Amino acid sequence: MSADIADLTEPVSAHLRARGLADLEVALSVHVLTGGVSNDVVAVTGDGVDVVVKRALSQLRVQQDWAADVGRLTTEGRALRLAATIAPSSVPPVLDLSDGFLVIGRAPDHWHTWKADLMAGVVDAHVAARLGEFLAQLQRCTADRVDQLRDEFGSRTAFEQLRVDPFHRQIRAAHLDLAPQIDRTIEVMAQTAPCLVHGDYSPKNVLVGDSDAEMWVIDWEVAHLGDPTFDPAWIVGHLLLKTIRRPDHSDRYHAAAAAFLDAWGRTDPDSASQLIRQTGCLLLARVDGRSPVDYLDDSGQMTARVLGRRLLGNPPQLLQDAWRLLA
Ligand SMILES: Nc1ncnc2c1ncn2[C@@H]1O[C@H](COP(=O)(O)OP(=O)(O)O)[C@@H](O)[C@H]1O
Ligand SMILES: [Mg+2]
Repeated sequence: MSADIADLTEPVSAHLRARGLADLEVALSVHVLTGGVSNDVVAVTGDGVDVVVKRALSQLRVQQDWAADVGRLTTEGRALRLAATIAPSSVPPVLDLSDGFLVIGRAPDHWHTWKADLMAGVVDAHVAARLGEFLAQLQRCTADRVDQLRDEFGSRTAFEQLRVDPFHRQIRAAHLDLAPQIDRTIEVMAQTAPCLVHGDYSPKNVLVGDSDAEMWVIDWEVAHLGDPTFDPAWIVGHLLLKTIRRPDHSDRYHAAAAAFLDAWGRTDPDSASQLIRQTGCLLLARVDGRSPVDYLDDSGQMTARVLGRRLLGNPPQLLQDAWRLLA
């Protein structure tokens, strides 16, 4: 359900003023970035004000949803603050988190999502490498203090509801012959919690500017302590989906995946198999899950399905071999 700008301007402005983030006399301009079922995201600008506000869904809707959404916004605010202690230039700063609103710094106008670049065939391997380095840093540093993080990030409820149910469990129903492999993926995920997982580490949640140094990872709502292969599988899986869409650019997407995996560099033999399984699950989820990609035609969807099934049923030795399988 999309938010009406008229519904948002008043409460968002009132909130920023009440929290001392905007002077009373400053005129604020509110611009909707997205309005989804769970929260609204708006840009707010005015003299001395340049922020993005994420608001949990309207309190008019049922109480239970409101509580779940506020919970996710809180997780996002906490995860952004944690990530800022590890790599401050890779996330937007958190300015406030209260009353069902998260206020963060706004990226400059010319920044855009990495997804937009990838869809246009502009594939900067430096961005991929930065994402790999950032993820390695996040995993290493959160692993070092995992016990202290359990209170804030130990719950997997949102992750289960928004990822495992609509992705893994849904594709299991559609590909019952692969149930043992999908169950194994879910089982390993459930048993593994050595570090923080972003949970939506995909190109649409990466904002990039002009230089390599300009990159933010956003949208941390389902962050939790969990499986270190989940996030890398999403980056590689999305690069595979873009390859299926534009086979003529295969080399570029492959090079980006190689740069990402090299920079991340945290695989051992056990996690290498889980990484391949997670990538297979993502590919299948993107064609047979609850929110399929909108940029593959029937034949592209079939290619993604065949590759996803292959990664689960008869996996290659290395994830990067997936590009050879597509050739
Ligand atoms: N700090 C920011 N600066 C500029 N744009 C942002 C910022 N945060 C989010 N956006 C824009 O709003 C969109 C939605 O934000 P996101 O946090 O990903 O929420 P959602 O849960 O709706 O995906 C992003 O894709 C991006 O275009
Ligand atoms: Mg997003």
